[in-house]
Amino acid sequence: MLSPMPSKNVNGATIDYEESGQGMPVVLLHGFPLDQRVWAQQRSALADRFRVITPDLRGFGKSVSIEPFSLASLADDVYALLQAIGALPCIIGGLSMGGYVCFEFVRKHPAGVKGLLLIDTRAEADSPEGKQGREKMIELVREKGSPAVASQMMPKMVAPHAEQNRPSMVRELRGIMEACPPLTIEHALTAMRDRRDHRQSLASIAAPTLIIVGDQDAITPLASAEVMKAGIPNAQLVVIPGSGHMSPMEQGELVSRAIGDFASKLH
Ligand code: MLT
Repeated sequence: MLSPMPSKNVNGATIDYEESGQGMPVVLLHGFPLDQRVWAQQRSALADRFRVITPDLRGFGKSVSIEPFSLASLADDVYALLQAIGALPCIIGGLSMGGYVCFEFVRKHPAGVKGLLLIDTRAEADSPEGKQGREKMIELVREKGSPAVASQMMPKMVAPHAEQNRPSMVRELRGIMEACPPLTIEHALTAMRDRRDHRQSLASIAAPTLIIVGDQDAITPLASAEVMKAGIPNAQLVVIPGSGHMSPMEQGELVSRAIGDFASKLH
């Protein structure tokens, strides 16, 4: 029988998280509309050397909540969780929306960050068209629910041909997206629409940073990764071949290796 995930009450919500291994904490934050299962490959590859912690952000996965949130409040939840379980300072990383949360985390709690991982994400805020797209998706989820959002997003989430070449991975990803509660999708779209532009503050990020991007990422493309690389003083960029936006699932081994090599040097 699967044992239940551990959880902590922080900031008025119950945050569930998976934890494996010992040593330097490596905290990985999932993207939208996903949950911590996207890190399964990194957990098994890294837990022999690191304490790998993968929370379900408020409202996602098993961290049930109906309260609205901002990306900054999600960062505060993660900080409070890590304080509660004695996992600070840490190497913190995020995929896409998880990366937006990481920017808030490092802005608000820089002393908690030993190293930063920015995976298939970007520093820039939504453009006016991007904000309109969020509004449309809010209407879509209200009218047709989470599966309609999954169907709309799926073609951009993974590399072309993934559906043909990796059907079980695509099925798993779709299942995670469809399971995301509609109200959480609405709250997350609002939070992402209203998020800060972090380009001006990239220079103030002191932590060593690893940027990872799939070479076929259609949501947060290589150009966005290059903006982060140019702005963050101590940053390196790894481009993952044969991957779209979901590099931790699409090319899990390469992503785990890049994270492991980076984290080993920060010991
Ligand atoms: C994500 O993958 O977390 C989202 O697609 C990011 C976004 O929509 O900006």
